[in-house]
Amino acid sequence: MEPLLSLRTFLSDVEKIGELRDVRGADWDLEIGAIAELSYRSPEPKALLFSEVPGYRTGRVLTGSTGSARRLGLTLRLGADHTDESLVDALRGKPSAWAAAAADFPVLPVTDAPLLANQVAGDINLLDFPVPRWHQHDGGRFIGTGCLVVTSDPETGVHNGGCYRMEVQDDGRSVTIAAVPGKHGAQHIAAWFAREGRAPVTVSFGHDPLLLALGGTEVPLGVSELAYAGAVAGERVPVIIAPDTGLPIPAGSELAIEGWLRPGYTREEGPFGEWTGYYSGSRRADLAMEIVRLYHRDDPILLGAPPGRPPHDYSYMRTVMKSAMIHDELVATGVPGIVKAWAHEAGGGRLFVGVAIEQRYAGHARQVGHLAAQLPAAAYMNRYVVVVDADIDPADLDQLIWAISTRTDPAEDVEIQRRTRGSRLDPMLPDGATPYNSRAVIDACRPWERLRSFPRVAESDPAYLAAVRERWGAVLD
Ligand SMILES: Cc1cc2nc3c(=O)[nH]c(=O)nc-3n(C[C@H](O)[C@H](O)[C@H](O)COP(=O)(O)O)c2cc1C
Repeated sequence: MEPLLSLRTFLSDVEKIGELRDVRGADWDLEIGAIAELSYRSPEPKALLFSEVPGYRTGRVLTGSTGSARRLGLTLRLGADHTDESLVDALRGKPSAWAAAAADFPVLPVTDAPLLANQVAGDINLLDFPVPRWHQHDGGRFIGTGCLVVTSDPETGVHNGGCYRMEVQDDGRSVTIAAVPGKHGAQHIAAWFAREGRAPVTVSFGHDPLLLALGGTEVPLGVSELAYAGAVAGERVPVIIAPDTGLPIPAGSELAIEGWLRPGYTREEGPFGEWTGYYSGSRRADLAMEIVRLYHRDDPILLGAPPGRPPHDYSYMRTVMKSAMIHDELVATGVPGIVKAWAHEAGGGRLFVGVAIEQRYAGHARQVGHLAAQLPAAAYMNRYVVVVDADIDPADLDQLIWAISTRTDPAEDVEIQRRTRGSRLDPMLPDGATPYNSRAVIDACRPWERLRSFPRVAESDPAYLAAVRERWGAVLD
């Protein structure tokens, strides 16, 4: 019986809905990454399971795990029968409910798991597995893309699970963790350094992509992603407790390590093709892990989630998660008239957000725009928020552009927020600068005082169009 959150259970479900492809014999050096990249751009991208990687007798790589409404619906336990819109609708309200329920689903320590089939302490080599070099100008081979890095708060013991890129170092004996300062895992690590001079860490490199979606999304600090995953699945997540660090590893993991980080124990890492669509700056020092133990299943599967110019591996997941969360958080502010929010994939699900409202009062559109740009779900690396009237679908870029082009006066309707939360990944950030950005709130609603007198939209009444289609369908279809 597979443990809860096993990647193999997920794969058999994906196979049943016809969205899994086997790819045999692709090279770890760029070829797996390039096949995945071509797949993301195809009309119906599938999940790809790479096996028989030349030079490797064991180890497989999965990409595209969450790249369709059906696969992401399965991942989030919302069912496989979804469109983009219906999936976001089904997700609405769930993140806060799951976060609230997480306390009822503490991890469940177990002593038996397929992960324990192979254990190595001492002579560890991560390059015994087919870790891809994903993009042509990456600085190395990144084993951590869809990974879950588990840390703990040294005061409260609460766990955090975060998804941070990890480059193999020292010919496979070590690995860097690139958690951006301020991310919860980075906060835990800093707190451990201050208290004990070292920080315990475990990492899982292959698991149900629910852990990728949750580890890769802003879950409130103090809520464990493993408990949150239990709330999503409706069952406590079985974990093995790593003996050196005392930290959990999901029992459903394919391959996992435990070890320690120490201040000053660093290696050069990067650059890496990132979710903004650009390589991340120059090679620079990041914390490296002293790995004390490695566990893996037979023929383990690495969960790959390489970013890049969108659409990339997890841009669809990010769009769905952020669209629902931004909508929910806007409604939770108590501001009325919120119709729909959409965090566009072309902006990596962060940079470009559209919100539709029913205008209720003067200043409403600006209020929504400024709030949306700073919500917890949006504050990191947002750049543009466009607020539109409810006749515009904010998920439709053509409609958004039409609204911006015809319902704004650029001199009046673009508000700038400055010194907001940026990232060192921002291609616009000069080398070495503090990672602020600025953001524009574009009020593309009809001006409140002209709502009644604004020129009519030149399109026929929907009822009349329906009647005409009924009569003239033969010449239209
Ligand atoms: C595949 C993937 C890779 C990511 N890589 C990084 C990374 O290298 N550094 C980082 O700080 N955040 C990265 N993120 C974003 C974080 O996972 C995200 O901000 C998450 O909320 C972090 O968890 P935390 O809020 O518990 O710190 C990545 C997300 C995904 C899905």
